[in-house]
Amino acid sequence: MIRTHRCGELQKAHVGQTVTLSGWVDGRRDHGGILFVDLRDRQGLTQIVFDSEEQPAAHQIASHVRNEYVIEISGTITLRPDDSVNPHLPTGEIEVRATTITILNEAKPLPFTVEDDVQASESIRMKYRYLDLRRPKMQGLLALRSHASQQIRNVLHSKGFVEIETPILTKSTPEGARDYLVPSRVNPSEFFALPQSPQLFKQLLMVGGVDRYFQIARCFRDEDLRLDRQPEFTQIDLELSFVEQEEILTLTEHLIRDVFYHTKGIQLQDSFPRYTYDEVMARYGTDKPDLRFALPLENLSEFSQSSDFKVFRTTVETGGMVKGLVIKGGAAFTRSRVDHFVDIAKDFGAKGLAWVKILENWKLDSVIAKFLNAETLQRFLPNAEPGDLLLCVADTPTIVHQVLGRLRTYFGEELTLIQTDNWAPLWVLDFPMFEYDDASGRYISLHHPFTSPARDSIPLLDTAPLNVRAQAYDLVLNGFELGGGSLRIHSATLQQHVFDLLGIQKDEAREKFGFLLEALELGAPPHGGIALGLDRLMMLLGKTESIRDVIPFPKTQKAQCPLTEAPSPVDPSQLQDLFIQSTWKSTDS
Ligand code: AMO
Ligand code: AMP
Repeated sequence: MIRTHRCGELQKAHVGQTVTLSGWVDGRRDHGGILFVDLRDRQGLTQIVFDSEEQPAAHQIASHVRNEYVIEISGTITLRPDDSVNPHLPTGEIEVRATTITILNEAKPLPFTVEDDVQASESIRMKYRYLDLRRPKMQGLLALRSHASQQIRNVLHSKGFVEIETPILTKSTPEGARDYLVPSRVNPSEFFALPQSPQLFKQLLMVGGVDRYFQIARCFRDEDLRLDRQPEFTQIDLELSFVEQEEILTLTEHLIRDVFYHTKGIQLQDSFPRYTYDEVMARYGTDKPDLRFALPLENLSEFSQSSDFKVFRTTVETGGMVKGLVIKGGAAFTRSRVDHFVDIAKDFGAKGLAWVKILENWKLDSVIAKFLNAETLQRFLPNAEPGDLLLCVADTPTIVHQVLGRLRTYFGEELTLIQTDNWAPLWVLDFPMFEYDDASGRYISLHHPFTSPARDSIPLLDTAPLNVRAQAYDLVLNGFELGGGSLRIHSATLQQHVFDLLGIQKDEAREKFGFLLEALELGAPPHGGIALGLDRLMMLLGKTESIRDVIPFPKTQKAQCPLTEAPSPVDPSQLQDLFIQSTWKSTDS
């Protein structure tokens, strides 16, 4: 037998037993006649002792092993002497005195040491991902993901959901990113798109009478990558028929609470707080606020209207706004530290960052102090007090929110305001249906074009599209957008109307989404759903910094796989088979 036990499970109770273990050499210490080997498998470590007097043959073989050799050993479990007990190791009270050893495979010296505080760069770790995965932290994250997926399936099955796979080779869906395309050999010059999400198929499943669908679905988006974005990622994707928003929110909360509790024993609150989009934008400058700390944006537009500081006054007079952050105790910061904040604000897109130190008796220290009336300012800032620092941005609402929202996050980290053990989920509701895209001069969907407007907003579609509210919702956790969904349009006429508003011509709508429009005309039930980012969920639950850590084989920032070196050139004959001739050259090369 190659093994009788796992390396992490041996305890005092096993003393006296003869066992066989297999695994990797995590480390070795040669004390002359005695050689210690730490043997590692997925479950943990066990110390193996090779004694040259007791078992000269085994000792002789063991003296040849090096780190990461794969070995099989047999021996007897004994108690460690008191002074060599390791309280940090679950198996730290025992060791195995080896009688035999077989080297199952050798290993060349590794490009980096397999250990949790790994020193190697991420690109080396990704090139040798299979070594990186040997680290206990990575094993833990893989197991956590598996456990969470199982829990998700349990909850959804118990609620009557049917797990269904939708096509990977499909037609482009407009989730807002570029598509990954796959040429069709048998249909020259035609392409499949890899799905950005199963959105249209899950809607068709509702028309198909499925009633409750879910899928742990792979999605593909060719977009700029960040620490919470991968080109290939996984959604927990749901869709329900005959449903209202409330039911979807409650169900999602149940699902998330259940996963947190069963995988990590974390008890999230019974119902997640709800905010409207307008509320979170006004208060936090972002639609995915981190509510583990306060630091709200203070509105100073009204104050600015009457102030003598021209930048503030004219900004408000011309439709802009002035908002600020009150940094507790910030009046004590040095001038160079405050100047650094100004630079950061400019990097975030601000024209300037006005700072005001509030001193004793509300005396103001600032280059613009002479323009500000301290008494009036105090009335507008009920939470500010002497010793604080006020930082203000005057600009269009978009810029003010973008800059202060990001500064708020910056200060949350910089001043360690974030309670890192806390979990702060929230719902953001009542999203606008459209936003105006200056670049293309068109309205675009904030969510996606299949999202239903709120019933009482429908009359505004033609008169004031920017005031139309969508029946859409986002789930936010600790400053990350964990998921988003909506009730869908189930009337072909309304869907066509929304396509019109988005500037999607009738022909184009028929060509791209004709199958959906037709399905909506053939008895489509009211329906809605949500998709949660599984990778983001795992990143947060696993308390790691990047979603790359929870994806076994992730891509780099440049959407490459350092391990397989994909993407890579292909044989010209393959291109010929596909009727593809590469003519465009990248402007970089
Ligand atoms: P949406 O585009 O908001 O909605 O995506 C839902 C969730 O998927 C995750 N996500 C990503 N995770 C990692 N890398 C990415 N590149 C990436 N892009 C998105 C996020 C996000 O909240 N079909 C709709 C859902 C619906 O309406 O039901 C959709 O895909 O966590
Ligand atoms: P200036 O008169 O341009 O020297 O600006 C005086 C102060 O106001 C400086 O501290 C600038 O950083 C700040 N400031 C200038 N423009 C803005 C703006 N749009 N929002 C906030 N502060 C600004």
